[in-house]
Amino acid sequence: MRRFIVAAAGSLALSTLAFVSPGLAGAPGAPAQPGLGAERAQPIDRSLGALGKRHDLGVGTAVDMSALADDPTYRQRVASEFSSLTAENVMKWETLEPQRGVYDWTEADRLVAFARENRQRIRGHVLVWHNQLPAWLTEGDFSSGEMRGILRKHIHDTVRHFRGKVAEWDVLNEAFEEDGTLRDTIWLQKLGPGYIADVFRWAHEADPRVKLYYNDYNIEDVNPKSTALYKLVKELKAEGVPIHGVGVQGHQTVNYAPTSMVQNLARFNRLGLDTAVTEADVRMVMPADDIKLQAQANVYSTMLQACLYTPHCTSFTVWGFTDKYSWVPGWFEGEGAANILDENFRAKPAYDALRMDLALAGGPRHRGHRG
Ligand code: G3I
Repeated sequence: MRRFIVAAAGSLALSTLAFVSPGLAGAPGAPAQPGLGAERAQPIDRSLGALGKRHDLGVGTAVDMSALADDPTYRQRVASEFSSLTAENVMKWETLEPQRGVYDWTEADRLVAFARENRQRIRGHVLVWHNQLPAWLTEGDFSSGEMRGILRKHIHDTVRHFRGKVAEWDVLNEAFEEDGTLRDTIWLQKLGPGYIADVFRWAHEADPRVKLYYNDYNIEDVNPKSTALYKLVKELKAEGVPIHGVGVQGHQTVNYAPTSMVQNLARFNRLGLDTAVTEADVRMVMPADDIKLQAQANVYSTMLQACLYTPHCTSFTVWGFTDKYSWVPGWFEGEGAANILDENFRAKPAYDALRMDLALAGGPRHRGHRG
């Protein structure tokens, strides 16, 4: 039976961590320890990334490249708080290949260099999606054969460019509708359902070592969408298609915490797949208040605990970490405050809850990527 200690209330003062976890005693800001001379106190890294390493769990964030360039506080927190980075936008097709066959790797390479400097891993996001495609592709009049060649080349070129630099790729993003039918995208229309196996094979050809993920939203729980995905990846595995993981995005609202995420992640784990929480954020109707912030902490914590409970749930990534830079207000009118720090980089209850979960969860356990 796995050991797992359910985290206490997420809003516990962080200094409490110094008492509950011996590894954290002596940390800056911790209460003085009797008999411990100041000269012997070691600075201890209490960041999310460092706490995640105790479980072999990557703790990541999506990175907004403009904020990284222009905001020193943002840059400092990206560098110090996380062990894994995902490009929020700059590895998408419209950015990487704005003209057919002409690549612009500038911003993506900048992120890779930043991650190297700070000894962080990179999740590649995203090779095949129906959004943020360049106009030359969506407006072009290509035959099925041409579309197939274009897609294969984009995958080959991109995966090769980042070979050895990206640990895992979101190969295919959001290919299902809520009812479990395949989404009617440009790719399905032009190439038929066989494109799904093909894109994983092409990515594998370009880098046989990189881990290849399917990624989607509203697949945290057992539901028609996640069940359709489950059936698909089971077939893909049976056919020997190189797929290694399933990413559950984790875009949530404060009024609903997943109820069957442990069971859901477990069934993918039993298929021999890694899992990951890839884009966690928890939005609320504005203005924020204490109750909503506590509910938000609970939803974040529910997702992290499900991941911690699941062997081979390899990383937990938040989709941005400060309310100062968030996609949410631009997409959901009247909603916001979805991140774990506020717009002034102050910790919200959700941040404390994640740290508490990471500090209290039992271990050691087998978490890293399979084979
Ligand atoms: O690049 C233009 C820029 O030139 C222009 O000045 C600016 C003005 O609004 O828009 C810029 O494009 C924006 C782009 O992000 C880059 O910042 C788009 O308007 C904006 O719609 C786009 O939103 C992104 C969204 O994906 C697009 O679908 C969000 O930042 C990004 O967080 C979001 O991320 C997705 C994941 O990739 C997949 N899962 C869902 C998640 C949230 O929607």
